[in-house]
Amino acid sequence: MSQHGTEATRAALGGQISYAQSWKDPAVLLGGLRVNADDDVLSVCASGDNSFALAIAGARSVTAIDLSGPQIALAKLKLAGAKHLNLARFHSLLGLSGLGQRIYLYHLLRPHLDEATVAFWDANEALIREGLLGCGKFEHYLSLFRDRMLPLVHRQSTVDEFLDLADLDAQRKFFAERWNNRRWRALFRVFFSQTVMARSGRSAAQFAHVEGAVSGAFLERTSHVMQEIPIASNPYLQWILAGKYRDLEHSQPYLSAEGHKALGIAADRIEFVHDDLITHLAGVEAGTYSAFNLSDAPEYLSEAESETLLRACVAASGVGARLAYWNLLVPRWRPPSMAKMLSRDTALGERLIRQDRAFVYGAFQVETVECSTFSH
Ligand SMILES: C[S@@+](CC[C@H](N)C(=O)[O-])C[C@H]1O[C@@H](n2cnc3c(N)ncnc32)[C@H](O)[C@@H]1O
Repeated sequence: MSQHGTEATRAALGGQISYAQSWKDPAVLLGGLRVNADDDVLSVCASGDNSFALAIAGARSVTAIDLSGPQIALAKLKLAGAKHLNLARFHSLLGLSGLGQRIYLYHLLRPHLDEATVAFWDANEALIREGLLGCGKFEHYLSLFRDRMLPLVHRQSTVDEFLDLADLDAQRKFFAERWNNRRWRALFRVFFSQTVMARSGRSAAQFAHVEGAVSGAFLERTSHVMQEIPIASNPYLQWILAGKYRDLEHSQPYLSAEGHKALGIAADRIEFVHDDLITHLAGVEAGTYSAFNLSDAPEYLSEAESETLLRACVAASGVGARLAYWNLLVPRWRPPSMAKMLSRDTALGERLIRQDRAFVYGAFQVETVECSTFSH
C-alpha cells in the first residue's frame, strides 16, 4: 500500500475492527446507485454489509476495498459463513441467536479462509465468542450508551414501549410526551460529543476535517428519525436501543432467509482488496468500474485529496458511471472544477437522505460521470 489516503485514518483504524455492522442504510445506497447485472462496483468494505447488499441486488461484480485489514477479515468471515453455514448457524456466528457454538463454527469455516484472515481470527477468537455483529469498537460504544447512559434517562419499560409502537402518529406523540425530556437531551449531548466519541467510538482522525460542535447535529438527526421514520421498520434504532434486531426479515438484506441464500450464491462475485481507494484506482484501467460506493471516505480526506479521489473514480470508469457517498459532518461533493465531468443529482440525494434509517448522516451525494478526464 502506498502513501495515499489519510495516514492518520489508516493508523487509527489499523489494528482493530471499528465497525462490525454497516451504519449506512443499504436502501439509500441502492436507490442512489441503481445497480444491475451490467455493473461492476467498487465498494468501500467496512463491515462488508453494503457490499453484500450490492451483490444481492444483482451487480455483476463487487470489489470490496478497505485500507483496514481487520475490516476485510471481518467481511471475509461473514461471507464464508453465508456460503457454508445454514441460516441458524450463520445467525449464531453473527450473534443473532442463542445457539452459541461460535468457535466451533469458526473452525468449520477456517479451511475456507485465506492465511491473513485466519491469522487475524486465530488471534481474536474472543471477538467471535461475542457474536460478530457486536464486536466493533463502534458497537462497543453503542452498548455503553445502551447499558450505562440510557438507564439514567428512561426505564427499560419505556424503551420497550417505544420500540413496540406500530404507527408514526403514536411515535411522534410518545417522543414529545415521554421520550424527549431535558435529561435525554443533556446526556445525549455529552455522550455524543466529539470529545467522548473520539475517545471511545470514532477516532480523533475521523474528525480531522470537521468544524463546529457535533452533538447538536446528532441530536437533531436523532430527533428527526424518532419522529419521522417508523421505529418498527428501523433496524438501526432497534440495535441502538435494544442491542438486537426485532425482525431479521427486515433488517440488513443478507440477514433474511432469502438474503442469506442470495449472498451464498453471490459470494463468488465479491472480491476483496486491501488497499486505499486512490492507490487502487491509480492501478486500474478506464472502464473497470461502472459504480462506486465511497461510504463517507471523502470526508476523511482533505479537499484536495477528495478531488484526487473523485478524479480517480472518473478515470477508472466511463460515461454513465455513478458515484454515491454520504457526508457525516463535512460537506463534500464534486468541486466546481469537475462540473463538466460529474453531474450531481441533488434532488435524488436529498430525497434519499430524508428516508435514511441510519439517520446520523447530513447529506447523500449521487453523481454521474458525464465525460472522462481525457475528453475534457
Ligand atoms: C469511511 S469508514 C465509515 C465510518 C463511519 N461512517 C463513521 O464516519 O464513523 C468505512 C470504512 O472505510 C475505510 N476507509 C476510510 N478511508 C478509506 C480509503 N481512503 N481507502 C479505503 N478504505 C477507506 C475504513 O477503514 C472503514 O473500514
